[in-house]
Amino acid sequence: MIQLIKGFKDILPDESRYWREVETLAAEIFDHFGFAELRPPILEKTGLFEKSIGQGTDIVEKEMYTFSDRKGDLVTLRPEATACVVRAYIQHQLYAANPYRKLYTIGPMFRRERPQKGRYRQFHQINAEVFGIKAPYIDAQLILLVSTLFNRLRIDDVSVHLNSLGCGQCRPGFKKELSAFLEHHRDTLCNDCRQRLDRNPLRVLDCKMESCRQVTSNAPSIAACLCPDCQDHFAAVRTLLDELKVDYQLDSRLVRGLDYYTRTTFEVQTGSLGAQNAIAGGGRYDELVKLLGGPDQPAAGFAIGCERLIELMKQQNDRPDAPGIDLFIAALGEESRKKAFSWLSNLQISGISTEMSFEERSLKSQMKQADKFKAASTLIIGETELAGGKVILRNMQTKDQEELPIDNLVEHLRNALSDKRKEVSS
Ligand code: HAM
Repeated sequence: MIQLIKGFKDILPDESRYWREVETLAAEIFDHFGFAELRPPILEKTGLFEKSIGQGTDIVEKEMYTFSDRKGDLVTLRPEATACVVRAYIQHQLYAANPYRKLYTIGPMFRRERPQKGRYRQFHQINAEVFGIKAPYIDAQLILLVSTLFNRLRIDDVSVHLNSLGCGQCRPGFKKELSAFLEHHRDTLCNDCRQRLDRNPLRVLDCKMESCRQVTSNAPSIAACLCPDCQDHFAAVRTLLDELKVDYQLDSRLVRGLDYYTRTTFEVQTGSLGAQNAIAGGGRYDELVKLLGGPDQPAAGFAIGCERLIELMKQQNDRPDAPGIDLFIAALGEESRKKAFSWLSNLQISGISTEMSFEERSLKSQMKQADKFKAASTLIIGETELAGGKVILRNMQTKDQEELPIDNLVEHLRNALSDKRKEVSS
């Protein structure tokens, strides 16, 4: 048979309820924090990502799904959402009335990385971007928002790592100092880092190889090279987080794999997922909107990786089982089944979750089916009941049974079952 493409995965029904929980909660929190949803397309012009993420990054160099469409234009399955959101912000002049905009988007991203646990070639992100405000309040709010989501999902083995990457004024000086330091240790660095040294020396700082980590443990620190404005901004972000009681740890190795960042960068990391320890990442990117042809507006954002988040949810706490249905209809004989089908359809339309057996089965086997569906009640109708104009309603928990007239049955069930639902939820 034709199987899934390597690195892609099906989200099966047992797992999809976690996705529903995460997406519903995220949308609720975004509402409370004043974000509006934006749904950009999945395919964009390749140049958008080359220009924003950066030509020398792993994503652009090795990982994009790029192809020419039938007219020969180069297009790419989006590897991340930030560039798409910025494009939409500029293209639709979302800054026109007020440049301050808070936008979120949830959906699939594509990177042709080597698949491993927690790393897929199609994965999903919950992505947030704020435009138009330079002040550190926004950086703190974004980190608070991510922490709120993790808290509400009762995930605790996570920590926020925080760094500042400076700006166009101070980062070049740091890069120069770092390059000079690393150049002395070129022979000790891994092959990848030797290449990084020429293209993007900052990336050497987050290499996981022990030999590289030893070298970089003595490397110059960005904190010492920040210009006064960047220092003030970073100090203010930290103070705000302290006041909000959001825990974080300073991490001077946190450089991120995308070129657009300025000033604050952060990642939410966990010790529970092995090598793929980043659950979320983000930061400020004050120069990107202008770089992509828009107005000179600052911006900041983050993205949470849904697959990793859901893996953590599964590991860290027991979710209640999937809820059962309201009603199962056990029908015996073709005439009863026809009636049952009409009731089933009417109840489903009215929001009462209902199932039945569409094939002839014994009452015993239908009661077993009702148990499998975890039905709260079962309606039993056979030829005798049909002839007598009555059905039996059985409460599956107490086993109590009552007789109901067939006349106005749907109306009656609608009331009885929604009352029961209220009782259960109160
Ligand atoms: P990123 O760090 O590349 O940032 O990705 C964010 C998160 O997406 C990661 O922390 C991880 O959880 C998840 N992720 C990334 N690649 C994979 C993969 N191959 N398989 C599974 N999960 C993955 C960004 O994408 C930036 N656009 C975030 C941002 C928004 N910065 C500012 N605004």
